[in-house]
Amino acid sequence: MWKAFSAPRCARSCAATFSRPLKLLGYHSQIIHNNWKLYAENVRDSYHATLLHTFYTTFKINRLDMDGGIRITDAAQPWHHLSFAKRATLDAAEEYKAAEVHSASYETRLNGPELLEAWNEFDDGITHSIQALFPTLAIQFTLNSLAVRWFTPRGVDKTELFWMYIGYEDDDEAEERMRIMQSNLTGAAGLVSLEDGCINEFVQRGTKGSGQSASAFMEMGGKTVESSEASRATEVAIRGFWKGYREIMGFA
Ligand SMILES: [Fe+2]
Repeated sequence: MWKAFSAPRCARSCAATFSRPLKLLGYHSQIIHNNWKLYAENVRDSYHATLLHTFYTTFKINRLDMDGGIRITDAAQPWHHLSFAKRATLDAAEEYKAAEVHSASYETRLNGPELLEAWNEFDDGITHSIQALFPTLAIQFTLNSLAVRWFTPRGVDKTELFWMYIGYEDDDEAEERMRIMQSNLTGAAGLVSLEDGCINEFVQRGTKGSGQSASAFMEMGGKTVESSEASRATEVAIRGFWKGYREIMGFA
């Protein structure tokens, strides 16, 4: 059933990320009250980060209009993807101000601004990346926080989400401290996990009230599953997941 997995060719591929000896920094898990496939969509959805994770937008960590894209691994079996973005390109985005996007309150300041200090991990300029491996694994860099997360069904509307935070054995003390501190950007003590768990539960409940009780479908549009090198404003990664799911389940 499985074809050989070909990782996206860039510095953020699995091969590059795990090319140095690793050091486990910590791990935790959380229960989220939604079907596992909703979380699989969440990992692959680029739109919601700007709207839901206001911390990302406020502190210019991740916004849909950043220079970035989505690479699909394999045209014949587009089940996996890599989403990447470059923080350095943010200042020119005047449309957020013009549109008065509610999460774009850039006057907000952190008491501990050192949280967002980052160094270039690779020479590709990428500051935020998520590589999803079908069906339930994702490897992500948020600034210098490297995390592997995976999830497993615990019921029709219950999923356990695991996070593992990783550094490199040759990190110096300051680098290790920074990776641990930046893990708060996404982990259970931060905001992203909390918000995804909350919104997915809303969607789960909304599906039940959709009139069909067991299913609901909404899309921005498009039909193809192909790489989008210039923009992350696309649903190609979600369609890639469902292509894989249908193939495995015999629905194709
Ligand atoms: Fe999210």
